Amino acid sequence: MKSQRSVPEEIEALKKEIRRHEYLYYVLDNPEISDGEYDVLLNRLKAFETAHPSLVTRDSPTQRVGGRPSLAFAPVAHKIPMLSLDNCYSEAEFLEWDKRIRNGLKGEPYELVVEPKIDGLSCSIEYERGVLVRASTRGDGETGEDISLNVRTIRAVPLKLNVEAPPAFFEARGEVYISKKDFEAIRKEQLSSGEEPFANPRNAAAGSLRQKDPSVTAGRKLNFFAHSYGYLEGMAAPVTHWEYLEYCKKAGFPVPFISKKPCKDVSEVLGFYKEYASRRFTLPYEIDGLVVKVNSHSSQKLLGFTSKSPRWAIAFKYPAQQATTTVKKIAFSVGRTGVITPVAELEPVKCAGVMISSSTLHNFDEIERLGLKTGDTVIIERAGEVIPKVVKVVVGARTGRETEILPPSKCPSCAADVFKDEEEVAYRCINPSCPCQIKRALLHFGARDAMDIEGLGEETVEKLVDKKLVAKFSDIYLLKDKKKSLISIMSPKLLNDKGTENLLAQIEASKKQPLSRLIYALGIPHVGEKNARVLAEHFNNINALMRTGFDDLNRVSDIGPTIAKSVTVFFSEKHVQELLQELKTLCVNMVEPEKAKGSKLEGKTFVFTGELKSMTREAAGARVRELGGKETSSVSAKTSYVVAGADPGSKYSKAQKLGVTILSEEEFIKLVAE
Ligand code: IVH
Repeated sequence: MKSQRSVPEEIEALKKEIRRHEYLYYVLDNPEISDGEYDVLLNRLKAFETAHPSLVTRDSPTQRVGGRPSLAFAPVAHKIPMLSLDNCYSEAEFLEWDKRIRNGLKGEPYELVVEPKIDGLSCSIEYERGVLVRASTRGDGETGEDISLNVRTIRAVPLKLNVEAPPAFFEARGEVYISKKDFEAIRKEQLSSGEEPFANPRNAAAGSLRQKDPSVTAGRKLNFFAHSYGYLEGMAAPVTHWEYLEYCKKAGFPVPFISKKPCKDVSEVLGFYKEYASRRFTLPYEIDGLVVKVNSHSSQKLLGFTSKSPRWAIAFKYPAQQATTTVKKIAFSVGRTGVITPVAELEPVKCAGVMISSSTLHNFDEIERLGLKTGDTVIIERAGEVIPKVVKVVVGARTGRETEILPPSKCPSCAADVFKDEEEVAYRCINPSCPCQIKRALLHFGARDAMDIEGLGEETVEKLVDKKLVAKFSDIYLLKDKKKSLISIMSPKLLNDKGTENLLAQIEASKKQPLSRLIYALGIPHVGEKNARVLAEHFNNINALMRTGFDDLNRVSDIGPTIAKSVTVFFSEKHVQELLQELKTLCVNMVEPEKAKGSKLEGKTFVFTGELKSMTREAAGARVRELGGKETSSVSAKTSYVVAGADPGSKYSKAQKLGVTILSEEEFIKLVAE
């Protein structure tokens, strides 16, 4: 007789089964069951979880916002199915596609439009009489998820169509994506606030778009470009794709044209494919190929669709930047919030021109997903041209000597027990005195954008913690009374007397840093530099911030529930309260300096475009803030000044169009000079 499963066992089994089907569907693109059967499984799990809410974990498939319509966002039925694209990877395959087009059009001449294939997330945006009413993800192509609130935060998406007589209904379809630069900035912010960073720009775009808290999306600098049409009503349908793109451009959507006009023959397309094989690396966004589309809509109609994709379009992809190597060892690194991250140490190999010797595996679910063992031969890929990742295990290359990878039961740094919260994917060391965590936290505390203690570099921190001179932030402010021990533990080569003096002077000077830097330096999960500034400017002193509960924090503009919760939890910890008391006693500043009232930039907003020669954008923004002004990222009629550096972008022409005052770098410097 089959043994009866307990409810927790049943839930676990269902989750495992659903995850397996998701993997088959999303990763292998080879589903074993229909969508309906998948829904039956999911609904069964949902029913169990509704009856036993305490057993709902955050990693449950019911809590996930995946490619299939999620439970977290309302479903939106697409008026016309949102299809995908067929791929080809070589000139020969592309020419075969072209031959099919030629045959399909029975000798009629045709033009081809070439676009970049930007790796992001497909999105539909609907307008009624020119006003944005709804935005949704592609989902399964028939039904997507309502992400209107989040899409409304994307500045590249017009809330109102910029046309004189807007049609009764207009649906623009396109790609939400993130630029390489903004992706790097988000990763930096995530690393600095102790979160697990996104692996590539596509994940960053997807993760940001599917935020339940639109204020988080708003801070992510998502971008959009229009690439295909949806349902239209009350306007003459464009005759060609090119005409449609021109209309989108006029209506206010970015459209990244590759050519100046449609291509007359395939050799022109092949020319662009070759040109962009290397040029793509200099583009501000990630592309994994070009998309080629038949221009005339009547020819498109004639060619029609397969069940998944239009016959009249093809994604002409570039080969992935991959390499094969072996996993020598798995190392475990402990972050400043105690999260233990497995890192694969690899036999060094060249991939996309760069030597790769290690790759983060993010978490243990990833190891399980890959089925990875130590000693395995693996395929690595440089995703987003930045971080190498293991994409596949070459199972056929196994010798039998590979070994299972198990999560450590003890912290690799302090040997304390490792803990895994039911709700989290991550394993954590929860020992507050774990030297590795302390070292990382101290490095963050002293970082240039935090308390700015230059001498508190990796080697110094290593020694201070190992020799037990520092175990928490407040201890660094006591070092001046332990000068002798300090000098004795520092190798004279690294830190001679003068070095010690410098370090102590920098530590002393850091006491005067504004509250915003202190808040950031404390390393509150989810609180990066920008949010720290918002909090400091709003509350003015740390006591007011510490006294504020979740609801009031959540009401602060730019602060969403995730941050509000994290801040309240952080300040409710006894050791945090004690630490702040100690810092206060040691005369560390805990107020935000009042902005000089009536200063000349009070109430003025600045937008920067192009490259500045004499200072970084950050420094220019900081100067504006110092003088009471504000820096924003998009130009509107309300913008006071647009500062144009070298090679200014579209913000420059927008400023001209709106009649906003444009300053050269020299004029800006004059304006902000004392
Ligand atoms: S056209 C019916 N054009 O690639 C045609 N898609 O792999 C639908 N994509 O789902 C898409 N750049 O999310 C089109 N220039 C482009 C694109 C593009 C990126 C994405 C889109 C699509 C996926 C297919």
